[in-house]
Amino acid sequence: MSTDLDEVFTRLPEILREQEPYPLLARLREASPYVASDGVVVVANHEYCSTILRDPRTSSDRSRARIFREDVRPPSRKLVDLDPPEHTRIRRLVSKAFTARALAPLVPRIDAMVSDLLDRVAFADSFDVIGELASPLALSTVCAQLGVPAADHDLLGGWSRTLSRGLYPLPLGSVDPEVTGAAARAGGRLLVYFKKLLAEPRNGSRGPVLDALLHAEGEGTRLTENEVLGVCALLVNAGYETTVDLIGNGVRALLEHPGQLRRLADDPGLAPAVVDEVLRYDSPAQITTRVAVADLTLGGLRIAAGDLLVLLLGAANRDPGAFARPDEFDVCRAEPPQHLAFASGPHFCLGSGLARIEATAAFAAFAARVVEPRLPTDRIVYKATPSLRGPDSLRVAFSGVRAAPPVPATATADHGVGQERSRV
Ligand code: HEM
Repeated sequence: MSTDLDEVFTRLPEILREQEPYPLLARLREASPYVASDGVVVVANHEYCSTILRDPRTSSDRSRARIFREDVRPPSRKLVDLDPPEHTRIRRLVSKAFTARALAPLVPRIDAMVSDLLDRVAFADSFDVIGELASPLALSTVCAQLGVPAADHDLLGGWSRTLSRGLYPLPLGSVDPEVTGAAARAGGRLLVYFKKLLAEPRNGSRGPVLDALLHAEGEGTRLTENEVLGVCALLVNAGYETTVDLIGNGVRALLEHPGQLRRLADDPGLAPAVVDEVLRYDSPAQITTRVAVADLTLGGLRIAAGDLLVLLLGAANRDPGAFARPDEFDVCRAEPPQHLAFASGPHFCLGSGLARIEATAAFAAFAARVVEPRLPTDRIVYKATPSLRGPDSLRVAFSGVRAAPPVPATATADHGVGQERSRV
């Protein structure tokens, strides 16, 4: 076992906050499957990550990994931590809230929200893409779907950010109990918030997704109240920061590749392809994990039941075995996108369609309206979330903001909403 690679693995959370983490991630990918320590295997190439994500001999219940001591055992029992048949039942019901038909009405609303957010900064000479565009867009969108009043959006956003900082997927020793304690409390507050929200009498809609969750029925089963609460809390957490990261990473990539930005400005119909290329090139969700629940072999390596598999999705999305010129940002790639940014298999992201709509609107409007945008000259500071990658803030200078077109170009574009784009 190479000590050098061990050090790269140990430093993963810091590496993911660097300006250019991919050369180091490539080293883990080239060595993968790689035994980082007893009971921990790093999987970072595209083929093996896809295999593991779809293999029924692996579990999403991280508490089954033998390396987790009691005190660092990750909190479980969210949809994303469940296995069949419980996962299958709940996922079928929740997915009714995310069909293409359910998402379609959001397209013009999200276009209008992006337009309004850009209008607000039009008379400044710079704006923070995270704080003034991506974050309000993603937070308001997910909260509106769940019927959360606007006055409470920031409260939920704060809890979600605290929760994400404490979702520590790696067995790397340096878990700060203050951070994980705060995360557990924030997760609890989200549940209590939704319990109170549901207890309030309401005439009419509680928000399209919450309505759909409350009424979802199938094969003689419905979601229990606790399941609805858990899904609401998960949706705020899973749907907010990842989408912010996608928009932040995308604006950085576009500004570092002005030719690609010009292409998008000339052809707003390219926006959905830009979204997929950003997801591949600089993935928001960099790490997920699985636990082997039976002995299996991967790339000649014997993996024992109870081993934790650390899947580096961002590294897999730069795999030369899967993508031509993987380190180039090219919004006109010929091959159909096969990236793993939304995972694959039974836990494929349920909100991928919604995230795509938001990012499509943001990139198209940014390219069309922001005049001579420039990246900050300082280093970009990345968030301290152990498995997500995205800028903490991204102040972009510009010479002006053009007026919004009367009919947003993205209102009619193909957003790839719903499950059709899922490769499950
Ligand atoms: C760019 C934005 C997003 C990215 C990169 C992303 C990424 C992911 C990934 C990688 C998973 C699989 C995790 C695993 O299996 O371990 C996942 C699952 C999930 N995501 Fe997303 N997500 C995004 C946006 C959203 C949005 C907007 C929502 C909803 C509002 C959402 C809801 C979910 C849910 C409910 C799951 C769990 C699905 C299941 O376990 O069956 N995500 N997401």
